[in-house]
Amino acid sequence: MTLGVPTETQPGERRVALTPDAAGRLIKKQGYAVRVERGAGASAGFADADYEKAGAALVSREDALGSDVVCCVQPPPDRERLKEGAVLVGFLSPLDDPQAAADLARRGVTALAMELVPRTTRAQRMDALSAMSTVAGYKAALMAADRLPKFFPLLTTAAGTLRPAKLLVLGAGVAGLQALATARRLGAITSGYDIRAAAAEQVESVGAKFVTLDVAAADADDGRGYAKALKEDEQRRQTEALMAVVAEHDVVITTALIPGRRAPELITQAGVEAMRPGSVIVDLAAPNGGNCAVTQPGDTVYHTGVAVLGPTNLAAEMPLHASEMYAKTVSALVAEFTDDAGAFVAAPDDEIFAGCCVARGGEVVNERVRALLAPAD
Ligand code: NAI
Repeated sequence: MTLGVPTETQPGERRVALTPDAAGRLIKKQGYAVRVERGAGASAGFADADYEKAGAALVSREDALGSDVVCCVQPPPDRERLKEGAVLVGFLSPLDDPQAAADLARRGVTALAMELVPRTTRAQRMDALSAMSTVAGYKAALMAADRLPKFFPLLTTAAGTLRPAKLLVLGAGVAGLQALATARRLGAITSGYDIRAAAAEQVESVGAKFVTLDVAAADADDGRGYAKALKEDEQRRQTEALMAVVAEHDVVITTALIPGRRAPELITQAGVEAMRPGSVIVDLAAPNGGNCAVTQPGDTVYHTGVAVLGPTNLAAEMPLHASEMYAKTVSALVAEFTDDAGAFVAAPDDEIFAGCCVARGGEVVNERVRALLAPAD
């Protein structure tokens, strides 16, 4: 079977879906004929010659997209080039763009959305979202350090002793924990807050203090590693209680998200105004509306001297390692559903396949996407 890798064309996207290494493994172990669009890896630091050395063929965009299996980071805008019966694997944003999923279904494409791979032990190797959140958390801490008009570490110099920066993470999941670990390596005093009680141990394991607020009545874990949404009054009490905590910090990195929902507002405009001028907020939930009231997705705003950064695609800003990590998850998913004869075989009864498959056999098969497409009553 042929497996194609097109060049990413979305503005600012510098990752590539398969690295030469990952391509080589799919060729040797699964028997795919890998076809990479010329230049596809260039912006991530992978030369055409390295793909050729790994055994891949360099082809035109048309040929890459015309393969049996197509691996992408973001969905190709020219999806009409996909052939009927093709398998498309990538971050397909089906909940943000259900019409695209419907169009893929109409074209007879089997569409596997990496962001819907379930967070289970078996699927860990295919968890692309967590991999990209690791990159985003690391980068968020670096961006904050770069923007803050202070040092992160304690410095004792002939010119005086400088106190370390205080950094708070709201939402101590994958991205939040990586941000805490990175900020601590840079010398900041770190604290983390999360509504899941299980996060306390993880926050402490990266050397940060866990902040406790008495707002969520029951444990907020949904049993699948994600949080349950707070009730409206709990959410309001949380935001109020957080205001004083936020104001004590120089940097706040927010990552709070419940999958499939708008991000909860954790920092109000008054909360921003209570921070000292020069403070920095990095709002990783910006693509989902943001955790901070003044966040502008894709932009930096200054509000009463506080810089509020709303990056929307941080993983693309560290494309080499982000591509390596992404390629590992994508190739693990493809390998999982390739049989011994080297053919990709759909497995609708498999929980991983069923979890991430949005279109198959001419139909949109994901319930949440179907609900979004259904006409409102
Ligand atoms: P995750 O699910 O591991 O972490 C989110 C954390 O937020 C969980 O621990 C959850 O318990 C917590 N949370 C939910 N509601 C909360 C609330 N009301 N108060 C406090 N904590 C709450 O998710 P992950 O993988 O760490 O991703 C975090 C965010 O980073 C997501 O919004 C994701 O879309 C975003 N992200 C952003 C990127 C960017 O460039 N802006 C790149 C990659 C990820």
